[in-house]
Amino acid sequence: MEECIIVTGTARGIGAEILRQLQEGASERIIGTTRKASGNGEFPGLDVSDSQSIEGFASEVLRRRLRLRALINNAGVYSGRDRNDKDVDYVLHTNYHGPRLLTNALLPAMAPNARIIHISSGMGELSGYSAKAKEELLRPDITEDRLNELVKDYLALRNGKVVHNLSVKGWPDVAYCASKGALNTLTRIQSKLWPHLTVISVCPGWVRTDMGGPSAPRDVSQGADTPVWAAHAPELSSGKFYRDRKPIPY
Ligand SMILES: NC(=O)c1ccc[n+]([C@@H]2O[C@H](COP(=O)([O-])OP(=O)(O)OC[C@H]3O[C@@H](n4cnc5c(N)ncnc54)[C@H](OP(=O)(O)O)[C@@H]3O)[C@@H](O)[C@H]2O)c1
Repeated sequence: MEECIIVTGTARGIGAEILRQLQEGASERIIGTTRKASGNGEFPGLDVSDSQSIEGFASEVLRRRLRLRALINNAGVYSGRDRNDKDVDYVLHTNYHGPRLLTNALLPAMAPNARIIHISSGMGELSGYSAKAKEELLRPDITEDRLNELVKDYLALRNGKVVHNLSVKGWPDVAYCASKGALNTLTRIQSKLWPHLTVISVCPGWVRTDMGGPSAPRDVSQGADTPVWAAHAPELSSGKFYRDRKPIPY
């Protein structure tokens, strides 16, 4: 079985740099995905906002019997002021459902001690949530189904529809923050669900990319450092949120 690391969203930005750094002296195959084609054209393109695209890509990985040492869920979008409902839906689908569905689809290909690295953001920190919403997200028994329900209610609330689940009212107004807060919660859920794997969130810091803009203090090599380190680091604490190679609070 050929061993590999998969990195999503490698057309540009931090993902392109993660791919470049991992490829230097790699002992396993490094597969970078883009929307058009992935792994130098051997795999279908991957649009992480589209569940069919995720299934198509994952089926090809499974068909080729690749053994995954690490999955770096990097692809992501920022919509700023969330101009309309479509933006809010798209951000949650790309930044939360995308990594969630891709990780689930690739689970059968994971090596017993594989790493799942979700590229998140300090903007998803729980300080942006009300005390009640924070308490719900930090519940030790929260499940993926419950989190999906909360995300669904958040979308309904943002789209002006009736919501019965009052706890989502304390979520941040900016969909990007909500999407990364949900992703961090998923990290904690998955780390408990799969004790044989290591699942972490990583904040790359504020980085000069199309997303981060020209004023950001970090360059892409600094942004890529922690995810690249985490792919091979001898010891990582599953379920934690990392920045600059160290755990930080959620
Ligand atoms: N830059 C920062 O300051 C910063 C800070 C904290 C966290 N982050 C996180 O770091 C990650 C990378 O950000 P970045 O700054 O490198 O952003 P970027 O320069 O905007 O690049 C985003 C990457 O994600 C891909 N992508 C977006 N939507 C996708 C989709 N639906 N399907 C597949 N690929 C998709 C893009 O591909 P296309 O070229 O096809 O659009 C591109 O390769 C994101 O998760 C982001 O939230 C960034």
